[in-house]
Amino acid sequence: MREDSRNAVARVDQDRLWRRHTEMARIGAIPGNGVNRAALSKEDIASRRLLLTWARARGFEVFADPIGNLFVRRPGVEADAPPVMTGSHMDSQPRGGRFDGIYGVLAGLEALEAIDESGVQTRRAIEVVAWTNEEGGRFQPCTMGSAVYAGARGLDEFLGVRDNDGVALGDALQETLAATPEARPRAFGTPAAAYVEVHIEQGPLLEKAGKPIGVVTGIQGQRWFNVEVSGRTDHAGTTPVGLRRDAVRDAIAIINALQDLTRDPDDVTRFTVGRMLVTPNSPNSVASHVLFSVDVRHPEPATIKRLGDAVPELARRAAAHCDVKVLPTLVHDPCLFDSGVMDAIERAANDLRLPNMRLPSGAGHDAMYMARICPAAMIFVPCENGISHNEAENAKPEDLAAGARVLAAALLELANS
Ligand code: GLV
Ligand code: MN
Ligand code: MN
Repeated sequence: MREDSRNAVARVDQDRLWRRHTEMARIGAIPGNGVNRAALSKEDIASRRLLLTWARARGFEVFADPIGNLFVRRPGVEADAPPVMTGSHMDSQPRGGRFDGIYGVLAGLEALEAIDESGVQTRRAIEVVAWTNEEGGRFQPCTMGSAVYAGARGLDEFLGVRDNDGVALGDALQETLAATPEARPRAFGTPAAAYVEVHIEQGPLLEKAGKPIGVVTGIQGQRWFNVEVSGRTDHAGTTPVGLRRDAVRDAIAIINALQDLTRDPDDVTRFTVGRMLVTPNSPNSVASHVLFSVDVRHPEPATIKRLGDAVPELARRAAAHCDVKVLPTLVHDPCLFDSGVMDAIERAANDLRLPNMRLPSGAGHDAMYMARICPAAMIFVPCENGISHNEAENAKPEDLAAGARVLAAALLELANS
């Protein structure tokens, strides 16, 4: 590692990074030490405002694009050279933890501040991005901000998506953008030279191996659907079962069929129904409608294609009494990260004498969209017992700081190449 890089990395401040996690965790705090910061909610707006306060205190430029992705930029010597980017997301699951996503944004800011404090100049600008709606807990699908940024999806596709209370994403987005007027508008399609995202592992491998750093090799494939089952509401006491068009009964039949489809003795396939809305949702009325989500994942391209392609027809056939609509909301092939960026991360970890290993990601991340438009890879740090999407999610301050140091070193190498 160059001497000026070593000086910059030495300025990564573990206490400042931890303090900022603690401050962010107050926004949307829920019992059990977790957070609920739904995308484009007032809590999301508060976290954006706090990030902007820290960024502007250091004199960094800030931008927002039309889907609300926020960019914090430290200029490079060559104004026109595409920047090196890092970041993650600030929205959370409804019962989320204090690290999923926000760590990648705060570690990015920490790396940028450390680089700035050391005074080192880089050829390219370095940008920290907070992507809009990575989680997809409130508005489906997930990873919207990065999908639109990378040109994989259009903003227009998402503006009409509604949350459980009927609020349209377009309206929530307008409110969010209006709340951060100091972020200068920026168009989509700004090219990037490379992207490095840091995140807690959300699994148990690094902790088990006793290694503080993971060099992530890729992300498994993922398919999402909304399944809408429509029948008729009736009296629960008087209507003979044989005459009913019971949407819950058919939803159960569909889910059982999908469970059979995705049964895997090796436990590699992941199948989840995590969201379900029942109408009219009363104990003594037969359900007229059920809307539920389907999330299927697998690391092999042929398998995720076979499973994903089978869902719509299987769902329609399994419903004996109701009408069924199956809407695909996300198609993501497995992605392999760039070997040059993985090597830069590994070199940084080795130079800092941090034990590391390569591993794939079971979770989805914005890096999977960035990998479509520039060389990209990720850094993982351990989290306690591999627990995530749970308020008990936890990570050690020293591991978070180690990830930020590796990030700073890798960003410096990439920003000077
Ligand atoms: C991200 O949170 C995912 O669903 O993998
Ligand atoms: Mn995440
Ligand atoms: Mn998550």
